[in-house]
Amino acid sequence: MADYEAHEHDVLVIGAGGAGLRAAIEASAVGVRVGLVCKSLLGKAHTVMAEGGIAAALANVDERDNWKVHFADTMRGGQYVNQWRMAELHAKEAPDRVRELEKWGAVFDRTKDGRILQRNFGGHRYPRLAHVGDRTGLEMIRTLQDHGVHQGIEVFMEHTILSILREDGRAVGAFGYERERGRFKIFRAKAIVLATGGIGRAYKITSNSWEYTGDGHSLAYEAGAELIDMEFIQFHPTGMVWPPSVCGILVTEGVRGEGGILTNNQGRRFMFDDIPENYRAQTAKDEEEGWRYCTGDKNANRPPELLTRDHVARCIVREIKQGRGSPHGGVFLDIAWIKEKIPNAAEHIKRKLPSMYHQFKQLADIDITAQPMEVGPTTHYIMGGIHVDPDTQMSRVPGLFACGECAAGINGANRLGGNSLSDLLVFGKRAGEYAAQFAKQTSLGKIDNDKIDNVAREAVAPFERGDGENPYQIQKDLQELMQADVGIVRNQSEMEHALDQLQQLKTRAQRAGVIGHREFNPGWHTALDLKNLLTVSEAITLAAIERKESRGAQFREDYPNKDERFSKVNTMISKGDDGSMQIRLEPLPEMPDYLKQVIEEMK
Ligand code: FUM
Repeated sequence: MADYEAHEHDVLVIGAGGAGLRAAIEASAVGVRVGLVCKSLLGKAHTVMAEGGIAAALANVDERDNWKVHFADTMRGGQYVNQWRMAELHAKEAPDRVRELEKWGAVFDRTKDGRILQRNFGGHRYPRLAHVGDRTGLEMIRTLQDHGVHQGIEVFMEHTILSILREDGRAVGAFGYERERGRFKIFRAKAIVLATGGIGRAYKITSNSWEYTGDGHSLAYEAGAELIDMEFIQFHPTGMVWPPSVCGILVTEGVRGEGGILTNNQGRRFMFDDIPENYRAQTAKDEEEGWRYCTGDKNANRPPELLTRDHVARCIVREIKQGRGSPHGGVFLDIAWIKEKIPNAAEHIKRKLPSMYHQFKQLADIDITAQPMEVGPTTHYIMGGIHVDPDTQMSRVPGLFACGECAAGINGANRLGGNSLSDLLVFGKRAGEYAAQFAKQTSLGKIDNDKIDNVAREAVAPFERGDGENPYQIQKDLQELMQADVGIVRNQSEMEHALDQLQQLKTRAQRAGVIGHREFNPGWHTALDLKNLLTVSEAITLAAIERKESRGAQFREDYPNKDERFSKVNTMISKGDDGSMQIRLEPLPEMPDYLKQVIEEMK
């Protein structure tokens, strides 16, 4: 075997966003040696792009809020295919995790009497999102990093992991490379936590940053873990649509939480046209009531712009398809209209939504205090991911844990905005705690040198095919395919077409070639990302075909309704003995009576 640089830790965390940092902090707090590997620079994780806030039932703005309401909202948003235990733990523990973040130095916006301020967001019954203007994720990462830096965590920035190493089925390490120099490294560990985020880069239009290539999903799948509910991809209703270079960038739901309205090219507030039966009782009857809700009137119902994301995204698509869209293929999002309602509206908007103001001013030359924005759906989040034990976050591979977006279960068919930042904290802490516990009870495993040599050989193979196909072209074709055939509105024949094309893309990826050398070579990095992107794309497509119904984020025009047969099952993907991707339906765990009662009470 070649002589690779090797490192040893008790717990190795892969990914340094909110979940990874929180896991690393927790593990090191109990005295084990922790390594933290991240693809980007520390502090640049995609979490910094999370804008609107952290959902936690602190009840600072509306005293009626509590964990039960949050739990019921999360389950209803997820259309009841969530892993109920995760939704329960999340709702119960999120307030403590937010208060802890404050103790560690996070500077939240404040209520008049000095408590953490909370804002409205889609699907949350009460104002629930603790926030820092529209830069909440940035503040979260800053705080976790400041706290974590003093804990003796060994950080490896700009490293990509290529494979999870196993001994007798247990995870015993990881093998990867340093992106700057291209040198391979071995990371031996007693327990591993995957916290690599999402898969948005499998789609053409996405709010996700370049790191989101499904690495954790794919590493876990290859290591023998199962993926759950991969069909559920969240298309955030409001991404930028213009100019083309910034298409997909997030426009926070906080804009709607602060009173922003959606209109079509006829000036009509189209969200009032289609309010589903199950939301009718909680939705404002007219514009005046919707506005009162945004100003904190506890007797008012929420405006229809704050219905769940799946619903709002589909309404926007309908307006665009039926010719009522904006000039650049979106609809209008208007926060400037609140000048009719409050004095000093421009200053208010700049204070509440500073990033949005600068984003539109600098990228699109739009002043959002005076003009409407143009927005459209953007691939934002995957509800599906690595199947984990709800309490410990361990996958079915002993010693392999997962948390944050790459893990799954809490959100069911659709995630409520703000639930991801709280998910990162709640389950990041749990993953760190249980990984450390696992590490304390075990010893370092043996590394399989042949396996490492194979992974290294495969990784450098694109250099031997200098005349091979350009990996960027394959990536672009994949993104266009997924956007067109496995997007917001799906059907059997398009998805079967996608599956077929994915096989061809796999063959092309195996023939991809790069030139130059291994020192910071973006073409090579892209060639290596293709495997993960193709794995998650196949899993998404297979699962979306299997679920022959529309539920939450999955909308099938050939099966437009919910189907009772799928109301109590999850889709499960695993790697078969012959190397092919296998799918099966698994019944949801039975919900205990006390939680059924909570849901009944909240109805
Ligand atoms: O709209 C937003 O600010 C996004 C938040 C989220 O996805 O949780």
